[in-house]
Amino acid sequence: MKIIKTANYEEMGLEAAKIIIEKVRSNPGTVLGLATGSTPRGVYKYMVDDHQQKATNYEEVRTVNLDEYVGLPETDENSYHFFMKQHLFNHLNIPKNQTFLPSGVAENLDVECKRYEKLIKNLGGVDLQILGIGRNGHIGFNEPGTSFKSRTQIVDLAESTRMANARFFTSYEDVPTKAITVGISTILDSKEILLLASGSSKAEAIKKLLEDEANEQFPASALKHHDQVTIIADEEALQLVE
Ligand code: F6R
Repeated sequence: MKIIKTANYEEMGLEAAKIIIEKVRSNPGTVLGLATGSTPRGVYKYMVDDHQQKATNYEEVRTVNLDEYVGLPETDENSYHFFMKQHLFNHLNIPKNQTFLPSGVAENLDVECKRYEKLIKNLGGVDLQILGIGRNGHIGFNEPGTSFKSRTQIVDLAESTRMANARFFTSYEDVPTKAITVGISTILDSKEILLLASGSSKAEAIKKLLEDEANEQFPASALKHHDQVTIIADEEALQLVE
């Protein structure tokens, strides 16, 4: 794994945005795999700034997101559909019908999982996948114990994940208990992966990722089975690594 160490959150976002923008410029039909949460917000801000200032063109880009809460409609401010529009899609010239997220309110969620898996395949797979990391090592919403062979699936969110994400909701009880997420195997099919981490709350997870053997109790360690992974992390996130 290649590591890019940055001074802080802003620089992490800038470095990641540069790589994404370069990819889109060299391959206008790139399929980007996207994440939500606090970590990529800065990245999206730099992508929007660049689009406004340098007119990087997203007309042919396709995007597929990692996950969505079960039970939240697109209009819910805490849904990942809403987040992506608010922070990225509304500010780029990407046609909305080229931006994909799994639905957390599909009538039949098992059918939705299969549909989403097929959709990614039909797009030709993800060229560049952006990942954050949970404090417990989750990627997407694949919590500890998830099989490395998993495909898009419905999962129970770990209590620690619900607590970490409660900051966006009125109360902990409002955080959905389930999510739909692409699987670990789906993530590993991406041609290239950028994992981002910022802040001391991610330091333990980054240490484990770099030092432990691949094991299903620590989902991000599956990335050891992929040969095109770059970690962009700031000093605080790397503070426990020699
Ligand atoms: C979000 C996702 C999650 C987050 C992770 C870190 O789409 O897939 O794995 O990347 O929970 O979240 P933040 O960035 O809020 O610390």
